[in-house]
Amino acid sequence: MPITTCVFDAYGTLFDVNAAARRAANDPEHADLANVWPSLAEIWRTKQLQYTWLRSLTGDYVDFWQVTQDGLDFALEKLKIGTEPRERLLQLYWELAAYPEVQEMLTALKTAGLKTAILSNGSNDMLNAAVTHAGLEGHLDHVLSVETVGTFKPSAVVYEMVETTMHCDRKDVLFVSSNGWDIAGASGFGFTTAWVNRTGEPQDRLAAGPHHILNDLTPIPTLLGM
Ligand code: LAC
Repeated sequence: MPITTCVFDAYGTLFDVNAAARRAANDPEHADLANVWPSLAEIWRTKQLQYTWLRSLTGDYVDFWQVTQDGLDFALEKLKIGTEPRERLLQLYWELAAYPEVQEMLTALKTAGLKTAILSNGSNDMLNAAVTHAGLEGHLDHVLSVETVGTFKPSAVVYEMVETTMHCDRKDVLFVSSNGWDIAGASGFGFTTAWVNRTGEPQDRLAAGPHHILNDLTPIPTLLGM
């Protein structure tokens, strides 16, 4: 059965999650972030994701905007940065840059007649803002948020949203993510998966692994035989 549907994770896969801290550090008034922004970005992201998993386990769902703020507050306190850049960093999270190859890759998929979607932990508001900012509206058939099911990836009920909303079978889907744990969940669910490993990370030791490993998103049309 050929792949008919290509589904993308959002943060870290289509959109550069480090861009908010990197851009804030370029503001003249935030020059004190110049050396610390990589640590800030890493701790922010790590805590944001941990909170999604922990809140899924304990059944204390809040939306991704809340865990994004909570992760940032932890990181700012941990690094003794204070709260002054908080609002700027949060504002930048709504306009994260898409990776440079995203537009061309999605155009190739749409030209070949594939269905495309985002499936993300992000809230509907956050995802719509990011998609609009990056000019990707015309390239995506669906933007699916976990808000609909009230829990986070890698819960199977999240991946099931693709089948129910896009009226396809999991065997028809290529799922693309830069997050190894997301790929493990998606492969276990029954999607064919492509892990985008931009930074040479080791593979996660989880129940299922990726079917394909890519350095960036450029080879996806070729992977799908285009
Ligand atoms: C997302 C996070 C996990 O977009 O990157 O779902």
